[in-house]
Amino acid sequence: MKRPGSHQMLGISAVLLVASLHYTAARDLRQVSEPKIPASCVSLKGSGGDETSVLQKALSSCANGRVVHLASGTFVSGPLTIPSGVGLWVDSGAVLKASTNAKLYDKGKNLCGTVNPVHHGCNPFIQMVNTVGSGIYGKGIIDGQGGVKLVGKNQSWWDLAHEAKLKNEYQNNPILIEIDNSRDIILYQVIIKNGPNFHVVVSLTNGFTAWGVTIDTPSTARNTDGIDPAGSQNVTIAYCSISTGDDNVAIKASNGPSKHISVMHSRFGPGHGMSIGSDINYGVSDLTVVNLTHQDAVTGLHIKSDRSRGGLVTNITYTDVCMRNITNPIYIQSDYNPNATGNFIPEYKGITYNNIKVLTPAVFTFDGYSDEKPFRATLHNVHIAKGSTWVTKHAKISGNYFEDASGRSC
Ligand SMILES: *[C@@H]1O[C@H](CO)[C@@H](O)[C@H](O)[C@H]1NC(C)=O
Ligand SMILES: *[C@@H]1O[C@H](CO)[C@@H](O)[C@H](O)[C@H]1NC(C)=O
Ligand SMILES: *[C@@H]1O[C@H](CO)[C@@H](O)[C@H](O)[C@H]1NC(C)=O
Ligand SMILES: *[C@@H]1O[C@H](CO)[C@@H](O)[C@H](O)[C@H]1NC(C)=O
Ligand SMILES: *[C@@H]1O[C@H](CO)[C@@H](O)[C@H](O)[C@H]1NC(C)=O
Ligand SMILES: *[C@@H]1O[C@H](CO)[C@@H](O)[C@H](O)[C@H]1NC(C)=O
Repeated sequence: MKRPGSHQMLGISAVLLVASLHYTAARDLRQVSEPKIPASCVSLKGSGGDETSVLQKALSSCANGRVVHLASGTFVSGPLTIPSGVGLWVDSGAVLKASTNAKLYDKGKNLCGTVNPVHHGCNPFIQMVNTVGSGIYGKGIIDGQGGVKLVGKNQSWWDLAHEAKLKNEYQNNPILIEIDNSRDIILYQVIIKNGPNFHVVVSLTNGFTAWGVTIDTPSTARNTDGIDPAGSQNVTIAYCSISTGDDNVAIKASNGPSKHISVMHSRFGPGHGMSIGSDINYGVSDLTVVNLTHQDAVTGLHIKSDRSRGGLVTNITYTDVCMRNITNPIYIQSDYNPNATGNFIPEYKGITYNNIKVLTPAVFTFDGYSDEKPFRATLHNVHIAKGSTWVTKHAKISGNYFEDASGRSC
């Protein structure tokens, strides 16, 4: 590289200034700090048996601003609803297990726990609907028991998911934690594992914080996304650790726009990526991913959609990302399903990669939709390993990458 002269220096500071302006706008607009666990309204010890009604009664009668404290022991439960202003505190040493009785989650059509051409037959395990100021706190464990055989069956939730793939049908499995149409929801320090399906879905919600949350599910478990903000705004995912069998995080917009999202100071392991997509009709914008370490995964920074469910993805900034042993560290797809039809054309622009380091040789794919709607991005300080493959199609990328990444660990 040539040493930049003063004119070029000026150019570089201008780029940095623009990048930092982007950085300030493209994030959760709230001032988010580490949550605190509220005082408890009741403290419970788990018996190891089914405690659905005990837990639901405690949640329903807990005073506004307080939490139901699971102090110790194992609680088995069917679906639970957390009301507004109430929290569930699963303390260290306590385990809350999702029942393996599929009937408890059934929406009324006897679909839950079956493989069927029809899906969405189950209610979630823990649900917050139209709630304000609710939360789930740690440091205990919420165990979805995805790999445990279902009551009266010879298959686990994950077995159903594999069977569904073979048959090209759907597994009817519950989402572990679902937040719909809510405001100011917190997940703090809790350890979530073995989801039967997606772990945390945050739909049409304004104000969501996942702080210090661990999601730990085997990479072989199908359709087990970690955290999926869908049509949600003012979202922060900070100090989280996510390993799973599908997207670590997937930001979607099939029901409303997703914007003002910060993913910070987190560590991802196996999974299908820090993803945007695939349903993004209403658009995803103003996302910043900063200080992310990602290792041993199929995909890293991923944007995926196609013309059946595309939309505008813009004002996206990735800063200080280190990746190691990732097959596709940056993967941009505009024909995720190559057979898709429709006029929801994916358009990805205003994407910035700042201080990216990829320590192992890998494949980088930048596939825009067309020359009229190309993938538009800026690279700044992007270092990848020697022997990598860099493929672009319908892409307008400014800035350079350097094949000189060194170091063995992130
Ligand atoms: C996001 O947060 C900002 C700052 O608190 C607030 O002004 C804005 O209304 C919030 N947006 C939504 C959609 O809740
Ligand atoms: C359950 O499945 C196992 C193998 O997955 C098989 O060996 C066993 O015979 C099955 N039991 C019943 C009751 O179907
Ligand atoms: C980056 O994230 C890690 C957690 O993964 C954290 O320990 C560290 O303090 C963060 N660095 C900065 C500069 O915030
Ligand atoms: C690399 O990641 C894959 C999962 O994608 C894992 O199976 C493998 O063990 C990892 N290799 C090393 C050297 O850690
Ligand atoms: C992208 O960011 C710019 C500058 O902050 C802002 O003016 C524009 O409205 C944003 N676009 C979208 C779609 O959010
Ligand atoms: C697309 O269509 C081809 C030919 O019909 C088929 O072989 C392939 O599996 C399809 N791909 C997907 C992702 O549906």
